[in-house]
Amino acid sequence: MNSHRIAVIPGDGIGPEVIAQGIKVLNHIAALDGKLQFEFTYYPWGCEFYSKHGRMMDDDGLDQLSQHEAIYLGAVGYPGVPDHISLWELLLKIRKGFDQYVNLRPITLLEGAPCSLKEVTREGIDMLVIRENSEGEYAGAGDWLFKGKPEEVVLQTGVFSRMGTERIIRYSYETARRLGRSLTSISKANALNYSMVFWDQVFEEVGREYPDVPTSSYLVDAASMFFVREPERFEVVVTSNLFGDILTDLGAALVGGLGLAAGANINPERKYPSMFEPIHGSAPDIAGRGIANPLAAVWSASQLLDFLGYEHHGRSVLKAIETVMTDGKVFTPDMGGRASTEQVGNAVVEALHALQ
Ligand code: NAI
Ligand code: MG
Repeated sequence: MNSHRIAVIPGDGIGPEVIAQGIKVLNHIAALDGKLQFEFTYYPWGCEFYSKHGRMMDDDGLDQLSQHEAIYLGAVGYPGVPDHISLWELLLKIRKGFDQYVNLRPITLLEGAPCSLKEVTREGIDMLVIRENSEGEYAGAGDWLFKGKPEEVVLQTGVFSRMGTERIIRYSYETARRLGRSLTSISKANALNYSMVFWDQVFEEVGREYPDVPTSSYLVDAASMFFVREPERFEVVVTSNLFGDILTDLGAALVGGLGLAAGANINPERKYPSMFEPIHGSAPDIAGRGIANPLAAVWSASQLLDFLGYEHHGRSVLKAIETVMTDGKVFTPDMGGRASTEQVGNAVVEALHALQ
């Protein structure tokens, strides 16, 4: 029996609703496999925990999580707790504490997914965006001087270390080589005359070790236009923390919306657990009504399976999502249907069984 220890942080709002469906899918995969087993440990951390205990997670939270191979997270954030607290004291604490410096966000138009673009083919949107996840514009370096005074000054500094820049770019070349695809770097060296000039330089330097990987470079503003107009230009994409954050939400909108978009936070060296999550938030506007779309959480469960070395199961989960969407009968309201979160989860499970 291959057993895997997974920490589960359902979090706030629709987090627990969608995670329940992802767990159901993972358990069915394990049952279908016969030799695979998951040991889930639940952690009640998030904004509700904060309102009781004054902190987003236990003080030794990272130690507890480090006992696991991977973390499966719903969403954190809820009205009443400032977003910068929920983000910095839970999500970013984990991403940074566990050096999850790779954020993998597939922007692939699955069969049956609604596409907001009229003039593209399904094959035309199939990219993997690799976002730098540990430093850059989100390094949290800066100051707020003379707060509230007329001479007030705010500084928010981008931090691009050689190690941090090289490792994300090298990871991206490796990934492009493994997949036999091109690699595009997205930066902004004309305006950001230190950080992005450096980024471009490292992209070129590291690229000399990968002469077999075709490359291109774009400025982020032009890239956002091409994401919409000619997405077929992009295969594997590497970009900084801020640009990646924005571009992947744009990308998510092209391939079915936030209810479908997944992201993995990876520590490639596997020294620490990696974390898998839908990229949407806790959606307080629809929380508690049982109508959240669980497909993003299910897609991230498929990324988790890939990470654990069960790519064939990961592919089955994506196929099952495609079956549900192509059938077109069981959609949550965000995708134009009337089904509940649970009905969509059940439909995925049925499709999985039918695939066997
Ligand atoms: P959001 O992603 O929660 O919601 C944006 C819109 O998309 C809402 O109208 C929501 O109903 C809809 N939506 C999102 N996920 C959906 C799903 N699975 N099914 C159907 N509809 C869905 O973003 P928002 O409103 O900006 O943030 C709400 C809270 O979530 C905030 O506290 C924010 O800080 C937090 N947040 C947490 C994230 C995380 O844990 N990774 C990521 C983004 C936001
Ligand atoms: Mg974001």
